[in-house]
Amino acid sequence: MEKSDFLQFCRKYHSIDDYALSARILPTIREYIKQPNTSKMPVIWLETSDSGDNNIAFMNTTYPYLNQVFSDMINLFYSNTFMAAQGRDALALLEEIATVYDGEFTLVVEGAIPTKDNGIYNIIARTKHYKLTALDAVTWLGTAAKYVVAIGTCASFGGVSAAAPNITQSVGVGKVLKREVINVSGCPVNPDWFVGTLAHLIMYGRPDLDELGRPKLFYGSTVHQHCQRRSYFDKKDFAERLGEIECMFSQGCMGPRTGSDCPYRQWINHVNWPVKANTPCIGCTNENFPDGSAPFFTPLPQKNQSKQVNNEQLSTTGKGESYEPTENSV
Ligand code: SF4
Ligand code: F3S
Repeated sequence: MEKSDFLQFCRKYHSIDDYALSARILPTIREYIKQPNTSKMPVIWLETSDSGDNNIAFMNTTYPYLNQVFSDMINLFYSNTFMAAQGRDALALLEEIATVYDGEFTLVVEGAIPTKDNGIYNIIARTKHYKLTALDAVTWLGTAAKYVVAIGTCASFGGVSAAAPNITQSVGVGKVLKREVINVSGCPVNPDWFVGTLAHLIMYGRPDLDELGRPKLFYGSTVHQHCQRRSYFDKKDFAERLGEIECMFSQGCMGPRTGSDCPYRQWINHVNWPVKANTPCIGCTNENFPDGSAPFFTPLPQKNQSKQVNNEQLSTTGKGESYEPTENSV
């Protein structure tokens, strides 16, 4: 499969079959890894300061399913969720894999990195002689990896783990490493965004990234651009309360300033997504989530936004009143 076909594949949304990444890319990957000098991608997955929601989202991948990702795409050598080893066996495995696959493995980080007091607030391994903090581990493995993928908004930008008052001074992986990090943000990530990024890395290498380091093929358009309620927005027909059918900009929807393909990719095996479920987009893929989206369910002028609006953004509160966005209001 040519790269252009793959990109088209990921963006298509003409039928339910096309949502998935899908059954059709697996045969391609299988053929690919049979070629000389190719193999399943070695992966080390570190979980740091987070809720574990991204590995649960990953388990919900469909087309390909989780077992297919493991059998055909990646060798997940280390993951505190998926591996059987515990304690010193797990740490020994981590050291061995990092040595054997030095410069070849992909490091996946799930969670933010606490930096206060040399990272002591997140310890991923403890021996008689030392404590391995998330800060140390990410610095060590991030230097040795071929690619670094931040899964979820905490790993990408700090996210909920770095929300005010952020007493652990947590940051995204990119703030710790002096190298490129591929940010697959979302709270949690959509499994297609993550598995699709892995597929791209395996077959074509680094995907094109946006200014926040996110793969453009999944984050290149705003939620607002493809939202099913967009016609209501264009007519300035806004919901007075949650549960109504009209545009929820009046209820604090962040869709106009949130990059993701949720409206057509959707969630839970491609059947639903927040706006379809009658709740506004809260901007979970954004660099300043959640503080920049707070307070939730509140129209934009009252939110804690700090970023400039772009062309897709707005001149109405959603109640029929106009406002000029100011530095403090957007
Ligand atoms: Fe959809 Fe939200 Fe945009 Fe309204 S503001 S059209 S609900 S994304
Ligand atoms: Fe997140 Fe908004 Fe999609 S809250 S899941 S980016 S609709």
